Amino acid sequence: AGLAVVAKSAGKLYFGSATDNPELSDAPYIAILSDTKEFNQITPGNSMKWDATEPSRGTFRFTNGDAIADLAKKNGQLLRGHTCSRHIVAPSLITTRDRSVDSWDVVNEPFNEDGTWRTSVFYNTIGPEYVAVALRAARAADPNAKLYVNDYNIDGTGAKSTAMVNLVKSLQAQGAPIDGVGIQGHLIVGQVPTTIQANIEQFAALGVEVAITELDIRMTLPATDALLQQQKRDYQTVIAACNAVPKCVGVTIWDYTDKYSWVPSVFDGQGAALPWDANLNKKPAYDGIVAGFA
Ligand code: G3I
Repeated sequence: AGLAVVAKSAGKLYFGSATDNPELSDAPYIAILSDTKEFNQITPGNSMKWDATEPSRGTFRFTNGDAIADLAKKNGQLLRGHTCSRHIVAPSLITTRDRSVDSWDVVNEPFNEDGTWRTSVFYNTIGPEYVAVALRAARAADPNAKLYVNDYNIDGTGAKSTAMVNLVKSLQAQGAPIDGVGIQGHLIVGQVPTTIQANIEQFAALGVEVAITELDIRMTLPATDALLQQQKRDYQTVIAACNAVPKCVGVTIWDYTDKYSWVPSVFDGQGAALPWDANLNKKPAYDGIVAGFA
């Protein structure tokens, strides 16, 4: 039926994919990305980041981000803005655009693994209040978008997830506009945390929505049948955890095909992390996602 169709039948808002500008000229790739039965949401993987939108100080370039926003609009897909701050904040990105965006990753990756604050130019100069400053600026610029704080390795419970819980509580106590927690979900085959659902529940209990924003589940290559079957089970586990929590509103995979995954370029010898292979054929993981929404 298609992943978005299945997700919506399960009561979720969307199932989506990240994409990036160099891929837009790949017609077979775009045909699947634009199929709203599979994906009713897209996220620009790079082209709305600060280094892309202000390549040098005072020089703004929105053409690439706009190209993806326009694709989403043409297809009738939801758009997730990503990201105003990769450890930093660029509210000008929001204020200068009139494209409609459903959600924004306003603050990305604020924490170290042990739950302490990650240092960044904004943390170092403003302190932890930079998060509230960024959220307020984003709300002023776009009153309708859902505003998220997004991080990786907050899939299961633990120090980093606890730090996120405490951040949300503190933002709420200050009256800062926080609508959601984004769980990136960059995971490893066979090592999916057993506490994913409990963790989603602890975020949801704060009254915010939750989204899985960048899901991929990588393996050590080559992709054997056994690994692909384990990957299928792992995708099902993650999707089922979101599915079980009403406030988990949707899932985005970090591109949909192994052809364009970021993983091999960063993790030597690893890859095959996505539900379509590099030839745009569906892998067992696809059925794992469908089963997770059942
Ligand atoms: O566009 C240039 C190209 O001109 C150049 O020839 C090439 C040579 O290195 O680099 C290209 O830029 C790369 C860019 O991706 C586009 O492919 C950058 O070097 C590379 O660092 C960049 O990586 C991105 C990474 O974020 C860093 O911003 C990945 O594509 C992207 O998937 C990744 O996404 C992040 C999320 O934003 C946040 N969560 C984690 C996730 C994975 O790291």
